Amino acid sequence: MPSPKPKTTQKVTKAVIPAAGLGTRFLPATKAMPKEMLTVVNKPIIQYAIEEAYEAGIREFIIITGRGKAVMENHFDHPYELADTLQKKGKLAELESVNKVLPSDARIYYTRQGQPLGLGHAIACAAAITGDDPFAVLLPDDIICRDKENPVAEMIKIYQQTGQSVVLAEEVPHDRTNQYGILSLAGKGIQNRRAQVSSFVEKPKIEEAPSNLAIIGRYVLTPAHMPQLAQTKPGKAGEIQLTDAMVEVCKREGFMGYVSQSKRFDCGDKVGFQMANLYFAMQDPYIASRLQPFLHQTAAQYDRRREVRLPETTKSAGKKAS
Ligand code: G1P
Repeated sequence: MPSPKPKTTQKVTKAVIPAAGLGTRFLPATKAMPKEMLTVVNKPIIQYAIEEAYEAGIREFIIITGRGKAVMENHFDHPYELADTLQKKGKLAELESVNKVLPSDARIYYTRQGQPLGLGHAIACAAAITGDDPFAVLLPDDIICRDKENPVAEMIKIYQQTGQSVVLAEEVPHDRTNQYGILSLAGKGIQNRRAQVSSFVEKPKIEEAPSNLAIIGRYVLTPAHMPQLAQTKPGKAGEIQLTDAMVEVCKREGFMGYVSQSKRFDCGDKVGFQMANLYFAMQDPYIASRLQPFLHQTAAQYDRRREVRLPETTKSAGKKAS
């Protein structure tokens, strides 16, 4: 096992945000619109990740893009004309919301992933910009609520205490372990929501999962990951997997898991996306006051429709059994 001795750590000020996916689950909405620009209430999905990282001290963002994603660059650009018009019209709240999209001390770099060769390949596209620095990775599909804590900020603290990379983890139902990177834990298991990781497996068969602790979309990685990714061969699904590079770095440097206690929405999925919209809408007192009665009414209509349909279902279930 690697030595637990803390090494000298650097400040973590860079984050890589992969945003080159095709968004096939949201077609046709994503035919011309990047899925990262779909809105949850009034902000695009990717902005939630940028805000979370900024709040954790990240100031340089490297967004990995692909064809048809230029609208993201426009979103994070300063809109002189719009700002000027809002200012002249005295629409100061709207002006503030536009100015807040990217704070003035943050910088964004865009680099394209020419071919869809996997998450590991996407991250490796940022190597020239991360250089010898540690970096965070935020997968924007996962929106994480920050009412309890900012997970990236906590993970940076753990990296600084241990000198080891850190991944955010969540317990998932055992039958869903084949959809995630899964942690294998060393010795003492989870203590104070932290765990020493002995290895990872990318999307194992359910019966082969070493635990039900899954990697969710937040990582703080040591600089060793970039050279490791450069020599990582295609793995699961024929793609270059970030998890495979992490397995190798884990052997040499050790790796920590941090168990999340925050609500998470998987916005790469239609259900998670709708839930995120409802959840964040209900955080806004104006929207909540009008939306809540509508939700009750809609839920009651759904219940009534189900009651009408139930006898049918029971009948056909009976037929199948006979
Ligand atoms: C990726 C990673 C996987 C991780 C997941 C979290 O998979 O490869 O290890 O658990 O993100 O969302 P993807 O969801 O891109 O297939």
